[in-house]
Amino acid sequence: MLAAARARQRAVAPYSHFKVGAALLTKRGEIIAGANVESASYGLTCCAERVALFNALTGGKTKFVAMAIVARVPGGPMPCGACRQLLAEYAFNARIWVADSRALQSIKEFSVRELLPGAFLEVPSERD
Ligand code: THU
Repeated sequence: MLAAARARQRAVAPYSHFKVGAALLTKRGEIIAGANVESASYGLTCCAERVALFNALTGGKTKFVAMAIVARVPGGPMPCGACRQLLAEYAFNARIWVADSRALQSIKEFSVRELLPGAFLEVPSERD
């Protein structure tokens, strides 16, 4: 939670001013973090969760215990649908911990399965 809160301070959110930090805990005990990065072309914005996940994956980390997500929002930030999809594909067994940056000790925990039931996990091979 602390690593996510620290990463949040590096958010680049000049448009929404909504800063989000995320940190993945690997099975080996490493922590890989990220924060949201926004673009003037709004749709190019990348959420903290995906920045952290891409950072971890491209650093060769593939086994995750948990992802902590922190933002200044009551109850903590719930990951968007796009991030849930990527978490289902690459961090299915990770626990998801969310907290308000003003109350880091108050943590809500979710499984990826409950955040994205019936996830689309592989592309069918059939072609017409
Ligand atoms: N955002 C995240 O980084 N994670 C979430 O779970 C929700 C939304 C970011 C994207 C954008 O920079 C800002 O929050 C407002 O949507």
